[in-house]
Amino acid sequence: MAVLGLLSQLLLYISAALVTLFLCVYVYFSYSFTYWKRKGAPYIKPKFPLGNNDCFGAEALSYGLETVDWYKEAKRKGHTIVGTWNYSNPVLLLIDPEVIKNVLVKDFNHFTDRDFFHNPKHDPKNESIFVAENEEWRQLRQRLSPVFSTAKMRVMFELVNKCAEPMMQLFETYSQSGDPMDIKDIVAMFATDVIGCVAFGLDAGSFNPHEAKFRLIGRKFFESNLKTKIHLIIGRINVKIAQFLGLRVIPDFLTNFFTEVIAENARFRQENNVRKADLMQLLLDLYESSKGQNDAFTFDDFVGNVIVFFIAGFDTSSTTMHYALYELARNPDLQEKTRVEIETVLKKHGGHLTYESFQDMTYLRQVIDETLRLYPPVQNVARFCVKPYTFKDSNVTVEKGVSVVVPLVALGRDPDHYPDPERFDPDRFSSQNKDSINKFTYIPFGEGPRNCIGKRFGLMQSSIGLIKVLKT
Ligand code: HEM
Repeated sequence: MAVLGLLSQLLLYISAALVTLFLCVYVYFSYSFTYWKRKGAPYIKPKFPLGNNDCFGAEALSYGLETVDWYKEAKRKGHTIVGTWNYSNPVLLLIDPEVIKNVLVKDFNHFTDRDFFHNPKHDPKNESIFVAENEEWRQLRQRLSPVFSTAKMRVMFELVNKCAEPMMQLFETYSQSGDPMDIKDIVAMFATDVIGCVAFGLDAGSFNPHEAKFRLIGRKFFESNLKTKIHLIIGRINVKIAQFLGLRVIPDFLTNFFTEVIAENARFRQENNVRKADLMQLLLDLYESSKGQNDAFTFDDFVGNVIVFFIAGFDTSSTTMHYALYELARNPDLQEKTRVEIETVLKKHGGHLTYESFQDMTYLRQVIDETLRLYPPVQNVARFCVKPYTFKDSNVTVEKGVSVVVPLVALGRDPDHYPDPERFDPDRFSSQNKDSINKFTYIPFGEGPRNCIGKRFGLMQSSIGLIKVLKT
């Protein structure tokens, strides 16, 4: 009896504690939900506990698509900015291209940091240019920019061109057998080989089932991984709690794999006096030359930046290639026009695909631009406010730590900016038409000092992949 009494008392305490906890959380959320009203900003009504997010599960990660509805509602009401909530966190959505320009370019000093969860204390090997803050980011950007100089692009052009050979052989096999092929997977294998080659000077062997380690790692990273998703969701709910709990977004298997590859590769180059014209060499030189300095580029920095180039480099470009091929398959006349251009330009250049010949393919570039308008691989560009900022026309002031988001998908599909927006029409980007496009409604690579560092490389790699597929 005494045990039963004790148990019911315990249950009572637990229930009371849970109710108190729930009430505290509820009060905290309710107060957070008054943030935009207190700031005098228009806002979209949030709901407890998701804020303006639609759902809690894995789908909640598709933030880019969720923002489309908020954008439409704000636009309908004539707002240039609109307050929303990501769980209890205030997020300001930018609607007007002029405001977007101010945040990304003119007033960049107020928005130098990217809103992306990272955990420097518990996950130092995943600190990189992508998540670095303020001064640290400026220094890294300066150190890494030479990777994509014009001279390096020329060298990389030849490497990428060569990486397409196994893909061409696979097409040959398929065309003989007549079997259906998974083009998304094939272009991902090509993009993985490319990054393996330009980043590490290695043959990643993605087309060889016995050697395709890089591809396996890439595929595993983007596959549903419940643990990573839970970490990301907690990171979205509250960064401080996620950091305190030691959560990470890059899984250990990926960090360990690249740590080993880099260590082995660096050892081989040093022991054999080998130098290559690749990203690995640039980072290795940086690592060696800054040893002992206060702001040294450490081995952890080395690993973190290689990982980010791998992730940022292969998925974005392969997504661009497969959506371009999807649209060209749906629009055979545009496909034919692209193919005719490729053949004509190649003929003019003696049948060779060179750095110069690919730059002459203006219609192909229009196809890629239009693909990126409809299907930007990165759906939102997000910044943290790092010092208080007042939005000019609205007089709304945001403080340090508030996130502002540029909704790329919504902008690209806004009929005010792109008439008949669902139609795939590369002529929107022809030399006659493209000047009428407001630059700040089309930013698939971001804009301003913190835009995509690999833009030229991503465009080059996607173009080469498409040329190879289309001219077969
Ligand atoms: C079609 C291909 C690509 C697309 C659409 C794309 C898109 C983007 C976008 C939207 C951003 C955020 C920009 C901003 O916040 O303003 C970004 C950043 C970045 N991208 Fe790309 N990207 C592509 C290819 C690549 C490639 C090939 C690499 C490297 C090999 C790369 C490396 C990076 C890095 C390191 C950043 C962070 C830059 C910084 O914070 O300074 N990207 N990319």
